[in-house]
Amino acid sequence: MKKILLIGNGAREHVIAETLKRSPQDVSIIAYGKTRNPGIAKLADRYELGPMDTFENLKKLAQEENVDFAFVGPDDPIADGAVDALLEIGIHSVAPLQTVARLESSKSFTRDLLAKYHISGNPKFHVFTSPEGLEEYMGKDLEGEFVVKADGLMGGKGVKVSGEHLADVNEGVHFATQCIEKFGRVVVEEKFIGQEFSLMCFCDGKNIACMPAVQDHKRAYNNDEGPNTGGMGSYSDCDHSLPFLKQSDIDEAIEITKQTAAALFKETGTLFKGIMYGGYIATKNGAKLIEFNARFGDPESMNVLPILKTDFVEICEAIINGTLDQINIEFEKKATVCKYIVPEGYPENPKKGEKIEIGKYPDGVKMYYSSVSLEKDGIYMSGSRAIAFVGIADTISEAEKIAASALKSVSGPVFYRDDIGTNALIQKRLDMMQDIRG
Ligand code: GLY
Repeated sequence: MKKILLIGNGAREHVIAETLKRSPQDVSIIAYGKTRNPGIAKLADRYELGPMDTFENLKKLAQEENVDFAFVGPDDPIADGAVDALLEIGIHSVAPLQTVARLESSKSFTRDLLAKYHISGNPKFHVFTSPEGLEEYMGKDLEGEFVVKADGLMGGKGVKVSGEHLADVNEGVHFATQCIEKFGRVVVEEKFIGQEFSLMCFCDGKNIACMPAVQDHKRAYNNDEGPNTGGMGSYSDCDHSLPFLKQSDIDEAIEITKQTAAALFKETGTLFKGIMYGGYIATKNGAKLIEFNARFGDPESMNVLPILKTDFVEICEAIINGTLDQINIEFEKKATVCKYIVPEGYPENPKKGEKIEIGKYPDGVKMYYSSVSLEKDGIYMSGSRAIAFVGIADTISEAEKIAASALKSVSGPVFYRDDIGTNALIQKRLDMMQDIRG
């Protein structure tokens, strides 16, 4: 019997729990979260609620249950040192220690790391510790096309792009100054034009094994309109690439990830053990790095884990033991589409504490619970993305129809994007890449 402590209560952790339980080994899940995720509750042998920013309760639970290892899902507890706290009591995690988790939590650390070790994919960038020079850098050096990145986690609100969230250099300077006040520094960088893709890799610190590429959709409304969200849905293709990518884009992204893992070890002496998730953009000059995350993507985890063929528990143990190079990791050759149901008003003024009913949905659709809580009389939304539906098929188009067939089964004050994974939206991505590649 393998006892695994799973930390986190979103859809990402629901699919992690499901995939661990699919292992041919006998697996017991001990869950720890801020709220009771109904999907994880069904799969876990014990479920404790507790804080995510202090780790005494977590350590007590891990010791009481004598778990074999832990899986820390969300970014905040990783950045705050949950993995370090568990290691103090001898428990290893599939998630990185705080010093290497800076890959996600400090944007300046990552840009400086790539620059120092001459890894390709960095934009032109500058780290500012005072507002002096911001206006000139944004307006003159970057010709008004810039991105401002807070040097710490801000729940998805730490990155703003000129022409999208920032109307002009004045707004850029204002936001960058706020970031300096909060975190002591800010990264200002060149804006890339192209199509974004997520490339997540298992990483034991020395070896990486990449998962299928996925495209997420950040904007709240159809046609990529509206405010940025945590991600409204995502798709992947049966060849594990994406329709708008060239093989060279994927190869470059893999190489950047591999070199970054090696540079992290050289720089810190600590191995990155967990999920190294590169947010890349395919440009006319190849793949560039937008950012790294130190965890599974949400929704991207729901595209890749349901088609993982290899025993996930074996992969987790290989990450911890540094033996990823000794196993052959395989994914089914299937396309996937994930669509999120979110509360009305999300992301700016989401309805919270509202009850939803999940009616019958067609067989073959996978459903994951996210920011919802199981109470005595039903399921209540907590204010963020609520329910995800995933379709799996031979083509993106078929997978889209499967995921879409379930959307109307949720009743309550909710909405969703119905264009994710459709032929029309994918054609727009292809047309854009053709335009910029010339
Ligand atoms: N898909 C965006 C994220 O997980 O951060």
